[in-house]
Amino acid sequence: MAKTQDELKEMVAHKALEFIPEHGILGVGSGSTVVKFIKAIHEQGIKIDGAVSSSNATTELLREIGVPVLDPNCCEPYEVYIDGADEVNDNFEMIKGGGACLTREKILASMAKTFVCIVDQSKLVNTLGAFPLPVEVIPMAREQVARTLRALGGDPVLRKGCITDNGCEILDVHGLAISNPKELETKINGIPGVVTVGLFAHRGADVVLFATDDGVKQKQVSRLHRYADLSLMG
Ligand code: 5RP
Repeated sequence: MAKTQDELKEMVAHKALEFIPEHGILGVGSGSTVVKFIKAIHEQGIKIDGAVSSSNATTELLREIGVPVLDPNCCEPYEVYIDGADEVNDNFEMIKGGGACLTREKILASMAKTFVCIVDQSKLVNTLGAFPLPVEVIPMAREQVARTLRALGGDPVLRKGCITDNGCEILDVHGLAISNPKELETKINGIPGVVTVGLFAHRGADVVLFATDDGVKQKQVSRLHRYADLSLMG
């Protein structure tokens, strides 16, 4: 029988427990799949030395289950970051930010040696962009950023009632079929007033765990591919 999305999220959240390093810092993302992951840590009695967290909501949950949450400024780059996504393509590039935590998520992903992305199968896509692309903006720049996004072919819509943990706003950009995610990430990040775009292409995932009706499957980026990509970035 086909599983519900909630059941699939539960399955992948449990599978992710296998990727928690025995010692050291764990990076923890945000969203409903991550909430299930944090609950599973608690249920299984897994001991975490300390975590860096991508949102106030995640911080609160981690503290509730007794995990010390550290300031990333006081941490060295660490081993594993675990987070969900809104879309993932075959190159392990993602759209994130459905939960408005994209900036902190990108910071923590940039500090991690391995990014483990946990999704249900509905998040796997050929081309990114059916999910509206979140862009976090400084409020006074919202309209000018929106004009520029329209010039790039998108249709930005202000996310109503949403103020991020950084005190900023989110424009959700509809109507983009993203043929070159890295190029678009660079372009949008360069618009004055943009804090972060929710395209995770330059730093994509290293491992994608995706839950299907037949169980959780795993795709892993080849190191060669990642190094080749980094060398292109100069
Ligand atoms: C939050 C995110 C989440 O990872 C993304 O929205 C997926 O969420 P969920 O696990 O609830 O489907 O990027 O900013």
